[in-house]
Amino acid sequence: METQQKQQNTIEADATADPSFLGAAFREIFYSPMNLALLSIICFLVYKIVRDRCEGPGSRDSAQKPAEPQLPKLRRDFTIKELREYDGNQPDGRVLVAVNGNVYDVTKGKRFYGPGGPYATFAGRDASRNLATFSVVPNDKDEYDDLSDLNMMEMDSVRDWEMQFKEKYDFVGKLLRNGEQPTNYDNDSNDEDENIDDGSKKDN
Ligand code: HEM
Repeated sequence: METQQKQQNTIEADATADPSFLGAAFREIFYSPMNLALLSIICFLVYKIVRDRCEGPGSRDSAQKPAEPQLPKLRRDFTIKELREYDGNQPDGRVLVAVNGNVYDVTKGKRFYGPGGPYATFAGRDASRNLATFSVVPNDKDEYDDLSDLNMMEMDSVRDWEMQFKEKYDFVGKLLRNGEQPTNYDNDSNDEDENIDDGSKKDN
């Protein structure tokens, strides 16, 4: 009996404590600009998560968006000058980037390399030196860059980046050294790795 009475008291105490607790919490949040800012960020993130879930495959919004047409696969070699045209600004929007002597079709990574993207300066260019030195400053050299002045760590970095490109994007061809003749890929075996320059961009 006594225990029941105690429990009843506790419940009543909680019920009376609740409103004042909530009030204190509201005051704490709404009277502090820092807490208000944090709350806004949390609300925004929750909104984004909920919105992204609602816009998943098959949702009304995604059904309305036309799927990006897939461009035909490219297989050819490029001089630095030829590569420059593929910066995503031409009508088909194709974007190519060269890394370590090999050219990759990064069109599906357009949000990174396309016009206005964070790495748009790599589009249509040899990005090796940028990737080695963590720079996004556009490399406007028209000459083939043999990277021979890069140190071991920088070259390792270029190779690591290339591995990532190789995994994610289609290999297109080689970046041609000055005077080098393009490969004829007409009878290509479809085995991309066979054609990929194994990296060492050293001068012959
Ligand atoms: C404050 C500095 C930087 C931040 C916060 C940053 C952030 C990021 C993030 C979050 C991603 C992954 C995006 C995703 O997969 O959704 C990414 C990818 C990448 N970042 Fe950065 N980055 C920075 C600087 C740089 C610099 C200086 C370079 C140039 C070497 C660089 C080159 C790249 C490349 C090539 C990718 C891969 C894009 C792809 O998947 O094709 N980033 N970065």
